[in-house]
Amino acid sequence: MEEELFMGASFKFLFALSTLLCLNSIVWCATDPNDFAILQEFVKGLDNPEVLKWPSSGSDPCGDSWPYIFCSASRINQIQTKDLNLRGTLPKDFNKLTELSNLGLQNNELSGSLPSFSGLSKLEKAYLGNNKFDTIPSDFFNGLTSLQVLSLEYNPLNESTGWTLPLDLKDSAQLTNLSLTECNLVGPLPDFLGSMNSLAVLEMSYNNLSGEIPANYSGMQLQVLKLNNQFGPGLSGSIDVVASMTQLTLLWLHGNSFTGPIPTTIGACTSLKQVWLNDNKLVGIIPDNLTALPELQALRVQNNKLMGPIPKVSFNFTYIPNSFCQTTPGEACSPEVNALLGFLGDVNYPLKLADAWTGNDPCGSSWFGVSCARNNVSGINLPNFKLNGTLSPSLGKLTSLTAITLSGNNLNGTIPSDLAKLSLLKMLNIADNDIGPPVPNFSNGVKVVVNGNPKLDPTAPPKSPPTDSPEGGSPGSSPNSRGSNSSDASKGSSKLKLVIIIVAIVVGVLLISVVLLFVYFHRKAKKGTYPAPTSIVIHPRDSSDPGNAVKVVVADNANNRDTSSDLQTSIGSGSSDTHVIEAGNLVVSVQILRNVTKNFSSDQELGRGGFGVVYKGELHDGTQIAVKRMESGVLSSKAFDEFQAEIAVLSKVRHRNLVSLLGFSADGSEKLLVYEYMPKGALSKHLFHWKEANVDPLSWKRRLNIALDVARAMEYLHSLAHQSFIHRDLKSSNILLDDDYRAKVSDFGLVKLAPDGKNSVATRLAGTFGYLAPEYAVTGKVSTKIDVFSFGVVLIELITGMTALDEDRPEETRHLASWFYHVKFNKEKLRNSIDKSLDISEETFEEICTVAELAGHCTAREPHQRPEMGHAVNVLAPLVDKWKPVKEDMDESLGIDLGQPLLQMVKGWQAADGSTSSFGLDDSKGSIPARPAGFADSFTSADGR
Ligand SMILES: *[C@@H]1O[C@H](CO)[C@@H](O)[C@H](O)[C@H]1NC(C)=O
Ligand SMILES: *[C@@H]1O[C@H](CO)[C@@H](O)[C@H](O)[C@H]1NC(C)=O
Ligand SMILES: *[C@@H]1O[C@H](CO)[C@@H](O)[C@H](O)[C@H]1NC(C)=O
Ligand SMILES: *[C@@H]1O[C@H](CO)[C@@H](O)[C@H](O)[C@H]1NC(C)=O
Ligand SMILES: *[C@@H]1O[C@H](CO)[C@@H](O)[C@H](O)[C@H]1NC(C)=O
Repeated sequence: MEEELFMGASFKFLFALSTLLCLNSIVWCATDPNDFAILQEFVKGLDNPEVLKWPSSGSDPCGDSWPYIFCSASRINQIQTKDLNLRGTLPKDFNKLTELSNLGLQNNELSGSLPSFSGLSKLEKAYLGNNKFDTIPSDFFNGLTSLQVLSLEYNPLNESTGWTLPLDLKDSAQLTNLSLTECNLVGPLPDFLGSMNSLAVLEMSYNNLSGEIPANYSGMQLQVLKLNNQFGPGLSGSIDVVASMTQLTLLWLHGNSFTGPIPTTIGACTSLKQVWLNDNKLVGIIPDNLTALPELQALRVQNNKLMGPIPKVSFNFTYIPNSFCQTTPGEACSPEVNALLGFLGDVNYPLKLADAWTGNDPCGSSWFGVSCARNNVSGINLPNFKLNGTLSPSLGKLTSLTAITLSGNNLNGTIPSDLAKLSLLKMLNIADNDIGPPVPNFSNGVKVVVNGNPKLDPTAPPKSPPTDSPEGGSPGSSPNSRGSNSSDASKGSSKLKLVIIIVAIVVGVLLISVVLLFVYFHRKAKKGTYPAPTSIVIHPRDSSDPGNAVKVVVADNANNRDTSSDLQTSIGSGSSDTHVIEAGNLVVSVQILRNVTKNFSSDQELGRGGFGVVYKGELHDGTQIAVKRMESGVLSSKAFDEFQAEIAVLSKVRHRNLVSLLGFSADGSEKLLVYEYMPKGALSKHLFHWKEANVDPLSWKRRLNIALDVARAMEYLHSLAHQSFIHRDLKSSNILLDDDYRAKVSDFGLVKLAPDGKNSVATRLAGTFGYLAPEYAVTGKVSTKIDVFSFGVVLIELITGMTALDEDRPEETRHLASWFYHVKFNKEKLRNSIDKSLDISEETFEEICTVAELAGHCTAREPHQRPEMGHAVNVLAPLVDKWKPVKEDMDESLGIDLGQPLLQMVKGWQAADGSTSSFGLDDSKGSIPARPAGFADSFTSADGR
């Protein structure tokens, strides 16, 4: 019996062996034939299978150890073909590779639909990021029970509809790392992730997610949470939930619409090292519990509505603009401001007031709703302001208050007894709220209006169904109106109501007049402080009125000409309000910029360009900035257009390889743009003028890195941003370098929003000769391909160290791109044309050939012959990798090695940029580099403009 079984089994075994004979071969195949068949299909689906260097026949993947394939016995358990520039599609029945445990396909150009991974129960790690997969089947996540790491980042998945994470993923109970950066997720954050206890790293930046962070994310054991820069309105609501994720080391929430204060309970997240909350609508005071976190190394909060003092800290801290009371860290607010902030805190910092109450002088700068007498706060006037919350006892510290009018809000709680101690108080109107007893004993001279508060006024109809029975009968409580005349009115209740109504009407009329007068004087005061002939006012979008786009109003008082333009239409969009520019957030006072640039001293000058001079500035915390000052003399409408365009575009477009706009000022004849400072200045300086500038020439490695940085920036502008942008003036003087010689593209003054749908418009010629694509120079036709051409010219400059155009050069080489057209075909000519300051080994020569070939394609005569920028990224990325070896360990290829201290990881990312294999694109747009270094739109005098 047993014998028979054995015989049967061995027969089957022999039979199986005989089918394993590879075609046309006497070699025994070690590979499972089904796995082999799928591998063959994989090859068939590729456009460039030759890069795999797999034998065509007579060989066996497992037996002969094909490159990139790993087996366990006869089954394929790993495919590792990252960074090979593979083009093509994956086979539909890919999930028949049932033993697959580790798949590394990242950083290729694989496209089409992802196959279903349904049933790949052994799969532990799947790296699919940085490809061009455009569809993800709905059963993709089914039964991935061993999954630990999944990266789908940077794929245009289901682009037209977007997609949501299927519930199936819930069964991946061991999932630790989930990276879904920029892959078109839509809708709310999935609730079920909150119950996935194994998750340590969750990255969902750059999607279309909206809604609040689900309450059940509370207590998640995440170490890394990145939800930054959602397209569209972004994530909203409070960020309280994250304070319960006590394992967090890195928290990126920037570039959303989060509201409310920073929770003090964040003090429990004692491992936090990097907290980026910038570009939200956060309010309140920065809690000590946050700044005192023991491990904190970098905090960014700029572009919120935070108030109070600026904490003085020792870590990297970026904080302007906000609504702080002081401009210097560590300086306290005045007692009046503190009292008003206390009041504001107890009504939950309404955004409108958090925006308006900036600075340290409520009277000098006319805070909305605050009136003053002899420079002290005498009144609070916020009737019908939808205030939620309670009356703060801190109002009792505003000793010169004479009137408080807070009728028609949603205030509850009680009237603090401190208010009864205000000796100058004449009126407290809290009618129509939900305030309860007891009412403190006010002196006789105070008029207290409390009608319309159901708990104080049992005769009035309740505002909303009262939850508990009114306590009007309790001792010492609630006359409807108290004060000098209240005893006369306390008899007949109908008489009383009449009096109340009349009083209400009179008070109402008075209030309206007061408000009108206030608005009038407020305006007048504003005019008084901005006497200059021309001003730009950017009205941020009113959040209560989503249809209201940003308006840029250019008022030219000098010749009484008013031109208003809708910024959205002026830059040619108007398609959606998801990209409305909240430029109001970025306003910085001219005085501050004057101070930090030593009154625009020539010592601080960084460079000169088309419409202004760029100055270096240093903020109190040591952050360096560059301030581009438009010359008053060139206030042509062209310059104005450029100014507006630059604000509009720069505040929308954020990427690590693009120079960030930090703020701007427009006051009178001053037009100032504030950028991050780029300490090493323009690429052109390092390429063409390094001797004069007394700097070392750039090594080939640095040049490669710069080329890749620029390619990434341009790829982002062209295709990754929500809408496509065309730079039109890419050149080496617009490419700026930071301390590490990493490049950022600057000067978007000429960028115009490319119209949706078509990539080409005939339009006004911009750009700089020498970099101009022929069709643009001749016909003015604009498409993304004109930037590709300019990029090609920059590549040639990097190779040759020669400027794009030089009238002093002999005819033949005068125009770099035309000359190079002939050089690139001939290796010896190419070798001779290489920048003499470069040390060329054979290996670097091969790289130079590759870059030269790319430059050739980019500068092809016909636009359609030029590649997209994505291609340039794919050509350059492996070259950069080559000299900066990436460890083979797959754990690291997600960029996250949990065994490494976070600071090192962060530094690694910053330094290595996209050269780590799966973080091909930047996560930090919408944010300012942690280094106080970072920036300058430097216009070198050599830039030829
Ligand atoms: C992606 O789109 C495809 C085709 O439109 C659809 O069948 C699929 O269900 C979508 N994927 C997800 C996860 O929704
Ligand atoms: C600040 O953090 C400490 C420590 O976690 C906590 O005990 C305290 O309650 C926090 N403060 C507030 C106001 O929540
Ligand atoms: C008060 O709360 C209501 C409802 O939650 C909200 O609509 C309103 O905007 C809040 N008021 C302020 C001033 O924030
Ligand atoms: C005031 O109202 C809010 C919201 O309705 C409620 O949560 C809070 O408990 C109330 N506070 C008091 C003191 O009644
Ligand atoms: C903080 O800034 C310093 C100075 O530029 C820099 O060397 C350091 O790496 C930064 N630290 C972090 C955590 O970003």
